[in-house]
Amino acid sequence: MRELLIEVRGLHHTYMEGTPQASESLRGVDFDVHRGEVVALIGPTGSGKSTLMQHLNGIIRPQSGTVMVMGKDLSDSRIDPRPLRRSIGLVFQRPEDQLFEQYTGDDVAYGPRLMGISGKSLSQRVRWAMEIVGLSFEEFKDRPVFMLSGGERRKAGLAGVIALRPEVLLLDEPTSGLDPVARTEFLMRLKTLNKEGMTLVIATHSMDDVAILAEGVYILDNGRIAMSGSTGKIFSKFEKLRSLGLDVPASVSLMAALKSRGWPVPLDVLTVDEAVKEILGAISHLSRGGISARV
Ligand SMILES: Nc1ncnc2c1ncn2[C@@H]1O[C@H](COP(=O)(O)OP(=O)(O)O)[C@@H](O)[C@H]1O
Ligand SMILES: [Mg+2]
Repeated sequence: MRELLIEVRGLHHTYMEGTPQASESLRGVDFDVHRGEVVALIGPTGSGKSTLMQHLNGIIRPQSGTVMVMGKDLSDSRIDPRPLRRSIGLVFQRPEDQLFEQYTGDDVAYGPRLMGISGKSLSQRVRWAMEIVGLSFEEFKDRPVFMLSGGERRKAGLAGVIALRPEVLLLDEPTSGLDPVARTEFLMRLKTLNKEGMTLVIATHSMDDVAILAEGVYILDNGRIAMSGSTGKIFSKFEKLRSLGLDVPASVSLMAALKSRGWPVPLDVLTVDEAVKEILGAISHLSRGGISARV
C-alpha cells in the first residue's frame, strides 16, 4: 500500500460563521491522497473544491474535523503550516494574481531563490518550470510581467509554483482559460511530472481533465463527497454522474460501454480518432481469439 500523504476526516467549514451570511461550504468531507497518485476533485462551481484545496496546505485551518498532511496535524493550531508549503504547493484558481516581480523569469525564480537555489541550477530550474507550462524560456524570461497576455500570466503563475518542485502539487482549476491545444499539452506535461514522482491533486469541473490524468476521483456536491473511487469505476456510473450534473466525454462513454462487454479497450480515450484506433486495435486482437467479447 502506498504511503498516505493526505488524510482528511469529517471536515466541516463555514464561511462567516456566526453571522447571518454564514454558509456551510464543507459538510463532513473525507479525502485521501497516496504518494504518487493523481487525484481529481471534481464538482460544479460552489461545491467546495477551492475551500478543500486551501485546507490541504494550511491556508484555511479546520474548524471541525482533521486534516493530516505528511504527518502534520493541521487541526492542531500549534502546527506552523509554512514549512510544509515547500513540500505541498498550491496553485490558486487565479495563479495570475500570484505574480509580483517585474520580469517573468524573476517571478518564476522567486520561490526557488528563497529556498537558497542560485546560479546555474536556478536558471535550469526556471527554464524547466517555464517549459512545462509552455512558456519558452528564451522568449519570456526577460519579458515584463505587465506585458504578458492573460493566458501567459496564468502560465507564469503556475510555473512559479512548479519551480518549487513540491512533492505534492495542488492545482485549482489549472486548465480553465487555456485553449484546447494548450490544455492537452499542459495535461501531458503534468502526466510527465507525475511519472517523475510528483503527487498531483487537481480540482476541476472538467471530466475531460479527469479522463486524461486522474487515477482516483472524488466528486464534491454541495460540500459533501457524493462519489469517490477509481476513474474507471466513477466513469461507469453515468446515471449517477448525470444526476449530479456531470457528464463523461462521449468517447469515454463509448469505451466504457465496450469495456463492460469485455472489449480490451482503455477508458482514457478522448478523441474520436483515438477511439477509432482503439476499436480497430481491439477488433484485430479479438479476431486473433484473444478475449471473448459481447456486442
Ligand atoms: N471567502 C468566502 N467567503 C464566503 N463564502 C465563500 C468564500 N469562498 C467561498 N465561499 C462559498 O463557499 C462555497 C464553496 O465555494 P468554493 O470552495 O469556492 O467552491 P468551488 O471551488 O467548488 O467553486 C460557495 O457557496 C461559495 O460561495
Ligand atoms: Mg474554486
